[in-house]
Amino acid sequence: MYLTVAILALLASSAHARKPNILILLADDMGYGDLGCYGNTSVRTPNIDSIARDGVKMTQHLTAASTCTPSRSALLTGRYPVRTGMAPKGIMRVNLWPYSTSGLPESEVTIAEITRQSGYRNALIGKWHLGLHRDRLGDHAHHPLNQGFDHFYGLIGTNLDDYGHEFKVVTLMRPYWYGQLFSVWAVTVTALVCLLKFRYVGPVTFLLAFMFWTLPVYAIYFLFDNMELFTSFLFRNHLLVEQPIRLAGLSQRLVNEGLEFMRNATDNDLPFLLVMSWVHMHVAIETSMEFHGKSCLGRYGDGLQELDWSVGEMLRGLRDAGVEENTLVYFTSDNGGHREIGADGGYNGRLKGGKGHGAPDGGIRVPGLMKWPGVLRTGAVTDEPTSQMDIIPIIADAVGVPLPVDRKYDGRGILPLLKEKVAISPHEFLFHYCGDKLHAVRYRPRTGHTTWKYVTHTPPLLPERTTCRFMCSCNNAVRLATPDVYDMTSDPCETTPIKPESKMYREISAAVESAIREHVISLDPVESQFRWDRLVPRVTWQPCCNGIFPFNCDCVDKKFENSKS
Ligand SMILES: *[C@@H]1O[C@H](CO)[C@@H](O)[C@H](O)[C@H]1NC(C)=O
Ligand SMILES: *[C@@H]1O[C@H](CO)[C@@H](O)[C@H](O)[C@H]1NC(C)=O
Repeated sequence: MYLTVAILALLASSAHARKPNILILLADDMGYGDLGCYGNTSVRTPNIDSIARDGVKMTQHLTAASTCTPSRSALLTGRYPVRTGMAPKGIMRVNLWPYSTSGLPESEVTIAEITRQSGYRNALIGKWHLGLHRDRLGDHAHHPLNQGFDHFYGLIGTNLDDYGHEFKVVTLMRPYWYGQLFSVWAVTVTALVCLLKFRYVGPVTFLLAFMFWTLPVYAIYFLFDNMELFTSFLFRNHLLVEQPIRLAGLSQRLVNEGLEFMRNATDNDLPFLLVMSWVHMHVAIETSMEFHGKSCLGRYGDGLQELDWSVGEMLRGLRDAGVEENTLVYFTSDNGGHREIGADGGYNGRLKGGKGHGAPDGGIRVPGLMKWPGVLRTGAVTDEPTSQMDIIPIIADAVGVPLPVDRKYDGRGILPLLKEKVAISPHEFLFHYCGDKLHAVRYRPRTGHTTWKYVTHTPPLLPERTTCRFMCSCNNAVRLATPDVYDMTSDPCETTPIKPESKMYREISAAVESAIREHVISLDPVESQFRWDRLVPRVTWQPCCNGIFPFNCDCVDKKFENSKS
């Protein structure tokens, strides 16, 4: 008896002595059909595909949201955004302005705060998009270094169409934006002139009213017309190091920084958690010179090639550091391809819908690859539903730190499934939200082979189209009189709902409706990070690295000053 305990303790301690490193490779806006290992025959992604070859490919891997900010919050915390305050409420579906006060609450426990308790070195390199300030300029309460990471290099906010100088997000969303803004201004000014003419107001009042009205209208115009000036910058830890971001060559710099971090940790014999949060495949897509024309598929394809190369460099870094055998590698994307912007938005295969749509799988079903030598089998595939929120229990288990018990987790321990120790996903239900509205529920009964999807709302698509104008609205989604139920196992493209008169339908809807009731009860009230007063940019906090805002806000990261782009 004592001997067994002693041996077990010895085994446990030797397992813990070799804590696995964790490398998370998170692509942005990459579609389900963008990779060779997910059946794409026109692009070559050998490095990313090698993770599938050496590990497990999840064919029904789901994000918690179809836009970046809420999806990323769920990956890092293992909780639905509606639990953490990170569920968007209105048309603003992401944390657009880094100089606002919205962000991932400090009270949330991220994967980095878990690994830190086990002595890991943690870094996030690339896109953060989960806020910066909370109350005051410079408090950096929502900064990655305040969420468990020891090193940060990258974007506090996001990449944006505006950085490519071809499109402006505001006119993609509202094509007549400038005209509308001007019309509102002109109508009001005309009314003022009339008041002046008929002597209802004197010249001094007129002038004051004119200025009072013109200045804010101009400020709004200036803000939306200069999104790059307001939002494009790179930080290294707490310092602003580049403004605006030089997108060409950025992948190479992220790789460089990531490899340096990895070497630093392994040289010091420290286990590490490294999140490479790539800026590809989000628009604006720019690649370094050597990837121009590499794909014969235009800018998007070239970006994919550069991303695949970047992933290859990170995997090579693991081999060079001699830690490949002891590293868990996880590749995924924060949401599906953005269909509204065409070829630059990526490819969701045959799945319906895309980024921002909410319920349809195109926006939430993403590549999910995991390799862990000695733990997971190689070349395995699971078609069972899995979630990005499952990464936190896997990590907690791997590093030997229990998850806090004071909160509800939505991630599940899927390792037995990935190891094929069990056949059925631990997720009996997965809740598919659009913003803070529940639009669908995925149901995997505890028997059989089928996964169902119960859809209560569909996106407000343009007439005769399968897309919205730029981003579907969650609040204007169409509520179905009778929910649709799809057999996601044999009809993954959601083409033919099963008959509402069928016995199957009645069983599924009863099970799902009761699960929804339970889920709703489980949601505790939380302060929303998507209130307007939190989201609006604090213009007086605006940084400017080389001049006085808005003039000469221009600097280049000194560390990579001479690297080619
Ligand atoms: C492969 O992905 C590219 C890039 O998104 C896309 O343009 C192409 O249509 C896809 N091809 C196939 C055969 O899946
Ligand atoms: C690696 O370590 C060196 C020396 O301590 C330090 O200057 C550098 O900032 C570290 N780099 C990263 C990416 O952590």
